[in-house]
Amino acid sequence: DIRIKELFRNTNEYADKEITVRGWIRTNRGSNKFGFVELNDGSFFKSLQVVYEADKIDNFQEISKAPIASALKVRGTLVLTPEAKQPFELKAEEVEIEAGSDSDYPLQKKRHSLEYLREIAHLRPRSNTFSAVFRVRSLVAYAIHKFFQENGFVYVHTPIITGSDAEGAGEMFRVTTLDPANPPMADGQVDYSQDFFGKETNLTVSGQLEAEIFAMAFRDVYTFGPTFRAENSNTARHASEFWMIEPEMAFCDLEGNMQTAEAMIKYIIRYVMENAPEEMEFFNNFIDKGLIDRLTNIVESDFVRITYTEAVELLKKADKEFDYPVEWGIDLQTEHERYITEEVFKKPVFVTDYPKDIKAFYMRLNEDGKTVAACDLLVPGIGEIIGGSQREERLDVLKARMDEMGLEEKDYWWYLELRKYGGVKHSGYGLGFERMIMYVTGMSNIRDVLPFPRTPKTAEF
Ligand code: 4AD
Ligand code: MG
Repeated sequence: DIRIKELFRNTNEYADKEITVRGWIRTNRGSNKFGFVELNDGSFFKSLQVVYEADKIDNFQEISKAPIASALKVRGTLVLTPEAKQPFELKAEEVEIEAGSDSDYPLQKKRHSLEYLREIAHLRPRSNTFSAVFRVRSLVAYAIHKFFQENGFVYVHTPIITGSDAEGAGEMFRVTTLDPANPPMADGQVDYSQDFFGKETNLTVSGQLEAEIFAMAFRDVYTFGPTFRAENSNTARHASEFWMIEPEMAFCDLEGNMQTAEAMIKYIIRYVMENAPEEMEFFNNFIDKGLIDRLTNIVESDFVRITYTEAVELLKKADKEFDYPVEWGIDLQTEHERYITEEVFKKPVFVTDYPKDIKAFYMRLNEDGKTVAACDLLVPGIGEIIGGSQREERLDVLKARMDEMGLEEKDYWWYLELRKYGGVKHSGYGLGFERMIMYVTGMSNIRDVLPFPRTPKTAEF
């Protein structure tokens, strides 16, 4: 049988030919003489229109009663219909039900709310919106690999179970082995001596520190994998399990870091617009009006660069009351980030050189002794999409920072050792994969770009 995508992409090759397709019914309507099925086989965003007639197929009654979600095998002739809404249809000669469906199928042909669809995570990939979202998710993942591989980066798999806290922020899920002889919940107590065969471990919050190991061997590397954060934030942009892309580049300073990030974002957007035009049109029409124009502008213009200190100036001058008052030294809140990107610049903005006290221990201390060589990329509609920095390569400065922040040298001994043996200047960043998907699709909740979202309130299966 033929994939429906092939019919849409190479229509003329199949015109007036007999073909066989398989797929699921999206809609089924008609009279007692003929009927129309919109058949979707998942290979393509759009469905194939199938026409079946009572005097052509002998199981007309059975087919006309087949509920949505039933699976069909159809043999017929592809007929071009240039005047009609759909460019072609399949005139059925034989229709076979491969799998029936109950008529109480929860996804009927109407617009369901995203909240409702979240409750049926096992069925929502079949809806238009989620079919578009998850195909784009797959394409963005491919585009990211393509971008880095074409630029000579080596893909590193960093560990999921790890003993180190890469961000030094303590927002980790602990990993424990269960001893059947000593069940964990007896008396409500957990026996932590059972931690990863006696060692305390957690799920990774970032593969950065391990990526730095590989950058010192391969120069340009990247990770791309699942990441876990135990922060209890119930926002539309935070998940407990999300994916992150973390390039790490030796001999690279903050400016080179930002250039790579900007080129990567533009590459991803271009790739998706070229390879998922039907999905992008759908998002543009039904999810986020003006999306395509905005993305086109982003690809064609330069990102803004301002320092944290300049950002604070802008916020203080703003003709606006913020819920969270602005002072030099505060961590920028979503409302501040959105003001800067949505009201001042209306495009992506790199904010650099943050106060050291609000950033991680590994960021390179600037000459002023107060700020670090950090670069966050903020975008309209979302806020922070990338967090990055030049890393502290000076052993004495790094040790002093760790001491200031109460981190133990023994926990990071190998990280410190990288500075002793050819530890050149290097930089990297982390792109939140889901936030990137939100950005290119216009979807506004992270739960709707994750196939199986895990947030403090949802983890259905
Ligand atoms: O800013 P973050 O915490 O930076 C790091 O983890 C660095 N180690 C990255 C690096 O330099 N290699 O996280 C990076 C990005 C954020 O900008 C955000 O897009 C995303 O990861 N992110 C989350 N996405 C979804 N849910 C969460 N709870 C997230 N936390 C961070
Ligand atoms: Mg960050």
